[in-house]
Amino acid sequence: MTDAPRRTVYLDHGASSWPKPPGVVEAVASAIAEYGANPGRGAYAMGLAASRLIFEARRDAAMLLGVRDSADLAFLSGCTEGCNLMLKGVLRPGDRVVVSSVEHNAITRPLHVLEQRGVRVDVVEADERGVVDAGRMEEAVDAAPTRAVVCQHASNVTGAIQPVADLADIAHSAGALMLVDGAQAAGHLPVDLGSLGADAWSASGHKGLLGPQGVGLLYLRPGLDVEELSQGGTGGSNSEEPGQPTARPERYEAGTPNTPGIAGLGAAVRYVSSHADELRSEERRLARRLHEGLLAIDGVRVLGPEPGEPRVPIVSAVTLGVAPDRVAFELDRRYGVAVRAGLHCSPATHRTLGTLETGALRFGVGFGDTDADIDLVLGALAEILA
Ligand code: ALA
Repeated sequence: MTDAPRRTVYLDHGASSWPKPPGVVEAVASAIAEYGANPGRGAYAMGLAASRLIFEARRDAAMLLGVRDSADLAFLSGCTEGCNLMLKGVLRPGDRVVVSSVEHNAITRPLHVLEQRGVRVDVVEADERGVVDAGRMEEAVDAAPTRAVVCQHASNVTGAIQPVADLADIAHSAGALMLVDGAQAAGHLPVDLGSLGADAWSASGHKGLLGPQGVGLLYLRPGLDVEELSQGGTGGSNSEEPGQPTARPERYEAGTPNTPGIAGLGAAVRYVSSHADELRSEERRLARRLHEGLLAIDGVRVLGPEPGEPRVPIVSAVTLGVAPDRVAFELDRRYGVAVRAGLHCSPATHRTLGTLETGALRFGVGFGDTDADIDLVLGALAEILA
């Protein structure tokens, strides 16, 4: 006789959402089983159905994100590709970029490459909670001609929500672009790209938007000329031309798209759109309960803004005396709790917070989590750290 399978308490939504809401798995499966043709390439029923599915997913994502013309949203492989595209498609040798000190490697690594190609990268230190200060950013931007300000919308380590609209005003007043990594904001926050002020905003499809992995979105504001990273087939459009079409979204979507992924993202976006208020208030409530519970445990220090300050549902903690990866291992092994420990692909943030040596234990709260899950984790932590 075997033991009954233990339920996984999943608190790693900052990395990827799981489980998916109703309709997502079915949409992926049906795109493979029923619409398997190549969208845009065949004028027969299956190909047209695949094209329609992509059109609807783009339209519904645009609606959720406040994008007036859905052609300004490109489907890419993920947020990382979008970050690479918005940086490498815009910045040229001799340009100066000002970036916060709490960025993910999806920003810092492309910038590292660009720096080697002659782009000047100046870093503005966030405060001890990992929050970017608009005043400090303004000083840095005004200190020298600037092509772009780059900042995350929300942190994957501290959960801090950055003052992106203020930063965009600062950038635009200086004639610079505002480029935003929206990975941890998408789905978790109301985002209106029509008014936010971001010239480019990149997001994952599989985190707060609750879609499958392998698909993300890049918004480029109307009229912004960003050079594409890849050239190739674009659904049969302008095939006779030697160069990549400049029309959107084709310019940025060379090659066969991830139709099953986009189908899943479309279903997920429709779910998020129709449940946004309840999803967001529930995950915020649970994250706060977890945050307050962690603060009550001896030997735990929580990073980032205080409970009640602007945050997405990510809570990271440093456990005094026990390494975070050891705690994560015990949480999984003894209690079936999935969390992420380490540097979270953002050594820059940990350097800013003074946690580069230890890393942290990160809880990402999201769809499907319950009060019982939070209580189980808090109880488990108290036992592990006792
Ligand atoms: N960027 C993802 C994370 O923070 C993978 O875990």
